[in-house]
Amino acid sequence: MHESLRPLLSDHQQVLFLARVCKPRRTQPQGVPTSPWDKVKFVRGYFETLLKRHFAIEEEILLPAIRGKGDEIDRLAEEIFSEHKLMHDMLESFLDVEGLSERLAVFGEFLEGHVYKEELDLFPQIPSVLTDQQLEELEQAILTFE
Ligand SMILES: [Fe+2]
Ligand SMILES: [Fe+2]
Repeated sequence: MHESLRPLLSDHQQVLFLARVCKPRRTQPQGVPTSPWDKVKFVRGYFETLLKRHFAIEEEILLPAIRGKGDEIDRLAEEIFSEHKLMHDMLESFLDVEGLSERLAVFGEFLEGHVYKEELDLFPQIPSVLTDQQLEELEQAILTFE
């Protein structure tokens, strides 16, 4: 994977951890909530501190930098945009306890699939559609994003 994407990959480690918390498992890492409501609070906390910023970097920096570089890339970029929106809406919809564990599990699966789509389908194509200088600029923009 190209170096310019390293900060996003490092976020993904935490995002995958979060997805794991959402999915039902016999064993969870220590210190992680187990009841569905506590999980929702935990996930929302992460959304504010990590996911919101991560999605914003992808939407405001990464995706605009590669837009128009190929049909496949444009299609993936569209999907990524709408999946961010969908995950945001899913989080907002966790309002009552009815079926909450199942819905959290769906959210966890979705989040995991989203990360794999970026890492396996989109990110590997990026170095071949940007020049070295554009990659360098991309890295700087990601690192200095406020
Ligand atoms: Fe994303
Ligand atoms: Fe991502």
